[in-house]
Amino acid sequence: MRILVLNGPNLGTLGRREPEIYGSTTLVEIVEAARAHALERGSLLDAFHSNHEGALIDRLEQLDYDAVICNFGALSHTSYALHDALVACERPAIEVHISDVHQRDEFRHNLVLAPVVAGQIIGRGVNGYLEAIDLLLDELDAR
Ligand code: DQA
Repeated sequence: MRILVLNGPNLGTLGRREPEIYGSTTLVEIVEAARAHALERGSLLDAFHSNHEGALIDRLEQLDYDAVICNFGALSHTSYALHDALVACERPAIEVHISDVHQRDEFRHNLVLAPVVAGQIIGRGVNGYLEAIDLLLDELDAR
């Protein structure tokens, strides 16, 4: 199983970005931990970060993966282009949010990818990425 982890705008500054909300772990550390966790479960993990919506869509279009874990940051609340790209890739996807978006600003309550993802992990901190791997692999094992 090849898992693609996608991170969107402003997630490249994790570690120093609003640590009271997102914690002090960097994106590099998150990806390392996720890769190790995936490997333990017999899966390969590739990761891509971009602040640009189109670059994230271009990466999805490569289709060199079996499943997706995505945190598109604020684009999760607005981007029908990413919604359509997830549908087009025809791979299962799990949406991750480090913070509990439902307890924050009103605009964060709207999650436009929700109808097209297989699951969501919200408000579990950076551990959410590892939980997303487990959810994905448990779901695929059960099929
Ligand atoms: C986020 C939540 C979004 O509302 C925010 O814009 C982010 C990060 C999270 O992981 O909690 O950039 O996706």
